Amino acid sequence: MATYDSLGTAYARTRRPDPRIAARIHAALGDGITNVLNVGAGTGSYEPPQTVLAVEPSRVMLDQRPPGAAPGVRAVAEHLPLRDGAVDAAMALLTVHHWSDPAAGIRELRRVARRRVVVLTWDQDVFRERFWLVREYLPEAAAFDDTRAVPAGRLADLLGGARQETVPVPHDCADGFAAAYWRRPHAYLDPRVRAGISLFAQTGEDVIAPGLARLADDLTSGRWHTRHAGLLALDAADMGYRLVVAEL
Ligand SMILES: C[S@@+](CC[C@H](N)C(=O)[O-])C[C@H]1O[C@@H](n2cnc3c(N)ncnc32)[C@H](O)[C@@H]1O
Repeated sequence: MATYDSLGTAYARTRRPDPRIAARIHAALGDGITNVLNVGAGTGSYEPPQTVLAVEPSRVMLDQRPPGAAPGVRAVAEHLPLRDGAVDAAMALLTVHHWSDPAAGIRELRRVARRRVVVLTWDQDVFRERFWLVREYLPEAAAFDDTRAVPAGRLADLLGGARQETVPVPHDCADGFAAAYWRRPHAYLDPRVRAGISLFAQTGEDVIAPGLARLADDLTSGRWHTRHAGLLALDAADMGYRLVVAEL
């Protein structure tokens, strides 16, 4: 069973595309692209209208794709069911860290795309340092991410060269990924929010419970707000998210 057949049952509830991040992804895909492949597509967030196919191993995720979305096929990045050069562009968003063999998956993206590959991922060093939740409360979750994060520089090398773009996270980000609630700390105490974030589900609720209890205390006492007053004045923050864009 694909991991997201169990993790993804409520994904669409908290993981909706954020329009500002969508604009960045669509700009990276560029003009003149007439067909796009989405790999690790999940429920279809961020797919531009030119999307012709979504590749996704989890049936549960495919079943949450909205009506009218591009067709989805059950497959993995490491073995794409497409011929060489089948699409103008391939994108893989917040998914590479789940792949069993990222090098093979990136090789496949390069094989099937003619012009461009766009990957959204995060820089684990920046994430660890800037995202107060993992730094101060959940070091176990940070350690888990150390085991699966694929460095943007490695992705760029695998892509045969790529540029990296910082993707700031808006304070009211609509897509509930790990650091999305950096200015809304109470959200992390909500099990429905955590259910949409693999970092929590895969680290384990028992392991993160003590850190979340400390966060709850600090929110009640006002300690969190005193310590993070600087964050409350920001509209967007760099939490390490990066677009890696390769021209082929
Ligand atoms: C965090 S979700 C991201 C989904 C979507 N791209 C988005 O931005 O909302 C990660 C997705 O990667 C998929 N995935 C896991 N292993 C994969 C693999 N080997 N090849 C392709 N996708 C995979 C999961 O099933 C899941 O749907």
